[in-house]
Amino acid sequence: MTGSNGLLGQKIIYGLLAQGGINIIATSRGANRMREKEGYIYEDLDITEEHQMAEVFGKYKPSAVINSAAYTNVDACESNREACRKLNLDAVATLVELCRKYETHLVHLSTDFVFDGSDGPYKEDDTPNPQSYYAETKYEAEKIIQASGISWAILRTIIIYGVVDDNSRSNVVLWTKRSLENKQTIRAINDQYRAPTLAEDLAGACIHAALKNAQGIFHVSGRELMCILDIVYLVADFFQLDKSYIQPVSSAELNQPARRPPVTGFIIDKAIQELDFHPHSFLEGLAVVKKQLESVHN
Ligand SMILES: NC(=O)c1ccc[n+]([C@@H]2O[C@H](COP(=O)([O-])OP(=O)(O)OC[C@H]3O[C@@H](n4cnc5c(N)ncnc54)[C@H](OP(=O)(O)O)[C@@H]3O)[C@@H](O)[C@H]2O)c1
Repeated sequence: MTGSNGLLGQKIIYGLLAQGGINIIATSRGANRMREKEGYIYEDLDITEEHQMAEVFGKYKPSAVINSAAYTNVDACESNREACRKLNLDAVATLVELCRKYETHLVHLSTDFVFDGSDGPYKEDDTPNPQSYYAETKYEAEKIIQASGISWAILRTIIIYGVVDDNSRSNVVLWTKRSLENKQTIRAINDQYRAPTLAEDLAGACIHAALKNAQGIFHVSGRELMCILDIVYLVADFFQLDKSYIQPVSSAELNQPARRPPVTGFIIDKAIQELDFHPHSFLEGLAVVKKQLESVHN
């Protein structure tokens, strides 16, 4: 798999290790930042470097690849278009050609941001209409994969949350918790709706898709579609933090560089039926996060 140092990537490696009996090749850019370093092979791989990718494919000839590496900073994609395009689009085109050569099943990650957010929650066959450069590159990559004729599954997901080993990544849950603990005021959007997804739940669906050769697009997210402001309030309540530091703000007031879809959310029936996907509720997910934070700090 690619991007194994990332939030989803780490959970996929742990999920594969727990299954057992699978030859796992974890790849990411630079050194391996996972705490567990046994039970799998790690390769330093920059997926924007074609020759590096060709070398790793040639060495291992994988039966399946999960592509979790991506340029995920949506606002930075607006100003760093070339870097975003190279990683989210050009590297996917290279990956597709290598999958064709080695008859590898490709499991690729995409996003709710391919939709414009005027009509959520979305089904797999609803029509995308990306509103930002990040979303455009993710949608273009989907189209390359769909037209390729290789064996593929695309899993679209929404706001992933969870804890990584090296604390290198934040997300809505950790950001809220840490900011409120430090008595910092946070601005939470009151007019965008999302269905947050526990990283472990998504990782399980990716593994299922890889091992069972799942075909087509799958919507994979938590079940609860909530306003981002309410997500932040729930996190504050769960961790018993002071909500007076939460400042509601509209998308217009926040004026982020990349346009975001107002209401996404997914109909997840297909993933439930075909990927054995049974997501935690948001409160159950927060309990998972709490437990992991306790073990990281011990
Ligand atoms: N996070 C979300 O809320 C969200 C929502 C919808 C869809 N998605 C999609 O879900 C997937 C996984 O997201 P995530 O949150 O797990 O992302 P993430 O934590 O940012 O992980 C991405 C990983 O890719 C690695 N990477 C970056 N450039 C690379 C390169 N050139 N070659 C190889 N690896 C590279 C990163 O390395 P470093 O750690 O060294 O930077 C990082 O470990 C992505 O496709 C994303 O678009 C995410």
